[in-house]
Amino acid sequence: MATVEIRSLKKSFGAATILQGADLRMEEGEFVVLVGPSGCGKSTLLRCIAGLEPITSGNLVIDGEDMTTADPVKRGIAMVFQSYALYPHMTVGENIGFGLKIANTPKAEIKSRVAEVARLLKLDSMLDRKPKALSGGQRQRVAIGRALARKPRIFLFDEPLSNLDASLRAEMRVELAKLHSSLGNTMVYVTHDQVEAMTLADRMVVMSAGKIEQVGAPLELFNNPANRFVAGFLGQPPMNFIKVTSARATASGIALGLPGGDTVEVGLPAPLAGNAEGLELGVRPEDMSIAPEGRLKLEVEVVEQLGGETIVYGRLADGQLVTAKLAGQAEIAGGDRLALDFSEERLHVFDAKGANLRYRTPVPHGKAKALS
Ligand SMILES: Nc1ncnc2c1ncn2[C@@H]1O[C@H](COP(=O)(O)OP(=O)(O)O)[C@@H](O)[C@H]1O
Ligand SMILES: [Mg+2]
Repeated sequence: MATVEIRSLKKSFGAATILQGADLRMEEGEFVVLVGPSGCGKSTLLRCIAGLEPITSGNLVIDGEDMTTADPVKRGIAMVFQSYALYPHMTVGENIGFGLKIANTPKAEIKSRVAEVARLLKLDSMLDRKPKALSGGQRQRVAIGRALARKPRIFLFDEPLSNLDASLRAEMRVELAKLHSSLGNTMVYVTHDQVEAMTLADRMVVMSAGKIEQVGAPLELFNNPANRFVAGFLGQPPMNFIKVTSARATASGIALGLPGGDTVEVGLPAPLAGNAEGLELGVRPEDMSIAPEGRLKLEVEVVEQLGGETIVYGRLADGQLVTAKLAGQAEIAGGDRLALDFSEERLHVFDAKGANLRYRTPVPHGKAKALS
């Protein structure tokens, strides 16, 4: 098992800087998920950790030892890719044992390790098959098996489930979670899929454009996003960002004007009053509900009945689009007028630069006592 630390890690390809100076520490046994839109640099960061790409500047430290320029083989890392990259002419057993064979591991040991891995991944009945006689999910299990057989300190996964269909993906997600809890290795997992990230991660690292935006437990990031990017990236349908019309000082802070004339008290410092320019209210679709005096008056355009919930798309008085997710089967149709309200506690306010003005700085673990 191992800790992995990256310090001010930068990566450029020619003149293009892809990673802008990343700092991150992954604890022993942790399941860390790097998540972000396509092209934000997730794979590049993983490949830098694995040693498949040279690091331009900064450091990589594994178990306290500087590995910035170490040979990939010395890092004790195994990586699983989206494309299974199995050898078609080899059997499942030979594919799983291949890494051990080229490392000159004795035959008897290869055999016992392959058997052990096959048992763990439920591949024991398929050891003599060729990859073409396997389903997509089974092939991916072989690719994972090949990584497991080498007994690495650290596992890196790059979108390993992206080639599978939705139901198989959900199944494999559960398998991976079980695998992690039984092995206990440090795992770093890359995905663009927020559901995969939320369900697998001990800690999530949200990235955009080569930068780490926020790091934390999935619900911590969902409930307390540091900025507009993180707020909008997590959650489906995404958070609504509603431009406010005014910001007025009140006894307890400021009140923001909503399209249609209502206001909402957000308890922010009074100096913000008077400048509503670029201020946006962040409201999650599931935090809205129908209320007679609801402050968001919506003209409904489209309704999606999903059985367990109803998704409503509509426009506010000034034309801004709003999405609401209502529990159950709400009797609403296109053309209806709807008054929605929201829990003030769960609102976010973003400034023109995208910072969440209601972000609460997390208290570091172990320091809470000293502060009280
Ligand atoms: N070998 C390379 N040479 C030049 N540019 C690259 C190379 N690999 C990746 N990039 C660029 O780096 C950026 C990040 O890519 P990548 O790490 O693959 O993103 P992600 O995995 O988040 O989708 C992209 O703009 C991509 O085009
Ligand atoms: Mg990638």
